[in-house]
Amino acid sequence: MHPAADQLNQRLSGTVVRRMLSRLGEQMFFPRGIVAQAAEAAAQADRFDATVGMAYSQGEPIMLNSIREAVPGIPPKQSVGYSPTPGNARLRQRWKEEMIRKNPRLEGAATSLPMVTPGLTNGLCHTADLFCDPGDVLILPDMYWGNYNLLFGVRHGVQIVTYPFFDRSGGFNTDGLREAISQHSGPRGVRVLLNFPNNPTGYAPSTAEAAAILQVLVGAADHTDIMLICDDAYFGLFYDDDIETESMFSLAAAAHPNLLTVKIDGATKEDYVWGFRIGFITIAAAGLEADHFAAWDDKLTGSIRSNVSNGNTLGQSLLLQAMNQPDYHQEKQRIASELRHRYQIVRDIVSREPYSQPDFPLQPMPFNSGYFMAFRCTNGRAEEIRTRLLSKGIGVIAFGDHLVRVAYAGVDPESLPELYAIIASVARETME
Ligand SMILES: Cc1ncc(COP(=O)(O)O)c(C=O)c1O
Repeated sequence: MHPAADQLNQRLSGTVVRRMLSRLGEQMFFPRGIVAQAAEAAAQADRFDATVGMAYSQGEPIMLNSIREAVPGIPPKQSVGYSPTPGNARLRQRWKEEMIRKNPRLEGAATSLPMVTPGLTNGLCHTADLFCDPGDVLILPDMYWGNYNLLFGVRHGVQIVTYPFFDRSGGFNTDGLREAISQHSGPRGVRVLLNFPNNPTGYAPSTAEAAAILQVLVGAADHTDIMLICDDAYFGLFYDDDIETESMFSLAAAAHPNLLTVKIDGATKEDYVWGFRIGFITIAAAGLEADHFAAWDDKLTGSIRSNVSNGNTLGQSLLLQAMNQPDYHQEKQRIASELRHRYQIVRDIVSREPYSQPDFPLQPMPFNSGYFMAFRCTNGRAEEIRTRLLSKGIGVIAFGDHLVRVAYAGVDPESLPELYAIIASVARETME
C-alpha cells in the first residue's frame, strides 16, 4: 500500500468510514503531483506559471472567439479553464449553505464539505468504488432506478437484495427494510440505499415513516456497521402536506457512530440543468471530526482524479452564478409550483374512472413527489402497453411485465388529460 494511503487510513482509524472502505478505498489517496503543485503555483508563481496543461495568453486561457461570444458573462478561466478536482470551492460552500437551508436539522451537524462529481451517477460510482467490494450486500426496495444494477452489481460484484417497496396500507415498507437488514448484515456491515422522491414510483415517506426508517437504521447500527446512501436526485419536489421535507441524510447525519450516511445530490434535477453534469457527495456520521473529513476528502479527491480528473467548469460557474441571484429561490419555487400543478392534474385523473376501478389493468401506485408516477400492471402486459402507446406516438417506460412509469413532469399540463386518456384506452385494449 502507498504510504500516503496508509496515513489516511490511520487518520480514519476507529471510524465507520475506515471500517466500511473497500479494498480500493483503502488503497486510495490524493498524490501531491501536478494538481497539488499547480495549486501551490497558482498561489505563489506570480511571474510565469508553467505548471498546468492549458494554453494561456496575457494571463487568460486562450479561447475560441465563438465560445467567448456565446458566454459573454463568464470570464475565460471560469468557462474553459480546468476546475479543481474537488470542484469550484465557492460552489461547494454555497451548496453546503443551501443544503443546510433545505435541511434545518443539519444546522451545527458535522458533515464533510460537498465535493463536486460530474453528475449524481458519478457520485454513486465513487461511493461504490470506495465502499463496495465483491459480495457486499446493497439493500434496495424492489422498485429502484435500474442503473444501480450496473453501478453496484456489474461494476463491483455487489449483491443487490430487495424488499417490497410498499406495505399493505400503501405506505413505505419499514418492516421489510428492517428484515432485509437483519438477514443480510455481515462482517463488512450492510449497505442500504434510499432514493426519495423515488424513481420510478414518485414516492417520498411521510414524517412518521421517515422517523421509523431512522429508528430501523439506528437499531441496526447498535449491532453492525451500516452505510445509508441517500440518492436525493429529486430532492425538494414534495407535493403533499405530510411528507418529510428533509433528506434522510439530515435525520441520520449525527444519529450513531456506526451509521455512515452518504448524500448523493446535485443540480441535475433540482436546478433543472440535466446536461451540466453537476452532482455532490457529502458524508456524515456521529463522532466524525475535522481531520476525519480532511482524510476522507483526500481519498475522494484521489478517486475523482483517477476517474474523470475534474468536472465541467462552465456548468459549475453558471450554477454558482444562478445560486447567487437574488431571485434564485423564487425562480425555483415557481418551477416547483408548476410541477406540483401537473401532479395535481395527474392525481385527479387517476383517482377517477377508469383508473379507480379495481379490475382496470393499470393501478396507480402511491405517489406524492418528484418527476414520476407509476402504474402496477396487473395483467402483466406492461411491455405490450408501452409498445402500443409508442405506435400512437407516446413514450412511457415499462419495467418488466408489471410496471409502467409515466414522467408527467415532462408533459405540459394541458396535454396531461389527453395523455392519460390514451394510456387508458390502450390499457383497455389489453383487457380484450
Ligand atoms: C434516482 C436517480 N439517481 C440519479 C440519477 C442520475 O443523475 P445524473 O444525471 O446527475 O447522473 C437519476 C437520473 O435519472 C435518477 O433517477
